[in-house]
Amino acid sequence: MTDSIVETPQGAPGRNYDIDALRAMDAAHHLHPFTDTKKLSEEGGSRIITRAEGCWLWDGDGARILDGMAGLWCVNVGYGRAELAEAARRQMLELPYYNTFFKTASPPGIELATKISDLLGPRFEHVFFSNSGSEANDTALRLVRHFWNLQGKPKKKHIISRWNAYHGSTVAGASLGGMKPMHKQADLPIPGVSHIMQPYWFEQAHPGEDPTDFGKRAAQALEERILELGPETVAAFIGEPVQGAGGVIIPPEGYWAEIQAICKRHDILLIADEVICGFGRTGSWFGHQTLGIEPDLIPMAKGLSSGYLPISALAVGGRVAETLIDEGGEFYHGYTYSGHPAACAVALANIDIIERERLVERVRDDVGPYLAERLQGLADHPIVGEVRSLGLLGAVEICADKESRARFPGDGRAGTLCRDHIFKRNVIARACGDAMVMSPPLIVSHDEIDILIEGLRAALDATARDLLT
Ligand SMILES: Cc1ncc(COP(=O)(O)O)c(C=O)c1O
Repeated sequence: MTDSIVETPQGAPGRNYDIDALRAMDAAHHLHPFTDTKKLSEEGGSRIITRAEGCWLWDGDGARILDGMAGLWCVNVGYGRAELAEAARRQMLELPYYNTFFKTASPPGIELATKISDLLGPRFEHVFFSNSGSEANDTALRLVRHFWNLQGKPKKKHIISRWNAYHGSTVAGASLGGMKPMHKQADLPIPGVSHIMQPYWFEQAHPGEDPTDFGKRAAQALEERILELGPETVAAFIGEPVQGAGGVIIPPEGYWAEIQAICKRHDILLIADEVICGFGRTGSWFGHQTLGIEPDLIPMAKGLSSGYLPISALAVGGRVAETLIDEGGEFYHGYTYSGHPAACAVALANIDIIERERLVERVRDDVGPYLAERLQGLADHPIVGEVRSLGLLGAVEICADKESRARFPGDGRAGTLCRDHIFKRNVIARACGDAMVMSPPLIVSHDEIDILIEGLRAALDATARDLLT
């Protein structure tokens, strides 16, 4: 459906697509993830994104859209990086594929494993590759159970997670995640996984409960669950340092320290799912560094390659790695594309950009604080109950009453309205229930943050008109 290269309205080259034909083909043949296919067709079909540069997307109708979500929280270095394309091209011509199963390896996988361990420091000397965040979490579940078998504690199998956590869409990923609609459709979670409350002060604090007390109560839920199940049956706790898809839930001060202490007390492994928080998003290389967590296992994906090619990794810490290697024998787990040479080469080039352009420091010292300041300017909007951010993760809570934090009726309707309004204004932010969330590329400029915030303000105004009149 393409013909020649043409100049787009913005002047950069793009292909000339027949967008109406593509939209019809999309409706006829393409099942989209997390989408009501019937409704999508009824509402006019997909907006087809044809190219991107920096923080900007262009759709097939020529509209220029600010991507305040970095794709799905992943395009950390921004779009249009020729050197990532070049890294893939060079690697594909030299060695497009070879596996890592049978006593073989290729240079990019070796170098990337070494680079990730360097970034994580001496506690994490080993890395297992897969293709997606979901698969990294599947690997974590398999490895944790294997570990406790090797420790002679085969009853230690249960994994505790949190409601509204997102850990992926495979059977294990969706089970570890705490999204009830996902569980309902597929009879999940699998046995041996359960969920506790999330540290979501805005939605779950009692009237008058301050964030620190609330954080303690939310962490105590872990200990209560462990005691209920029996510590001898609990293998691990999994949590995102900051819950992303659950609504950018930044835990109150002290929450993670308490969780850490509880895990230590009951000899339970701690898995920090860094799929969103990794690679600079929170102003450190990894979210656990920002939040002072000492995990045993670290799944990562997204920002590892900035989404240019699919790749994920599980970093395996001290005693788990030692046990696996010294006593584990063969680990019966892996994927055809574990350590894919081209994906690893792109991830290495991506990390090189993050280092060279000092993007982690930029988030910590410059654009992170600027986003926080600009978000603060929305706090007195009539339908905003709270704004919060950490690094380049931000959220705005929509509510009907600021004092009681009561929501508008309709369970997520306000968020959906606001998301549609901002999208119509050619700015992308996402709704998680009634929280509007954002996660722009780490290269975002102050001017672009201004556009994001002004787009959000206009969308909030329009949402307020819908809801209040
Ligand atoms: C924290 C977290 N873990 C895991 C995943 C799953 O990653 P993937 O979609 O690459 O399987 C996601 C995806 O959004 C995520 O946010």
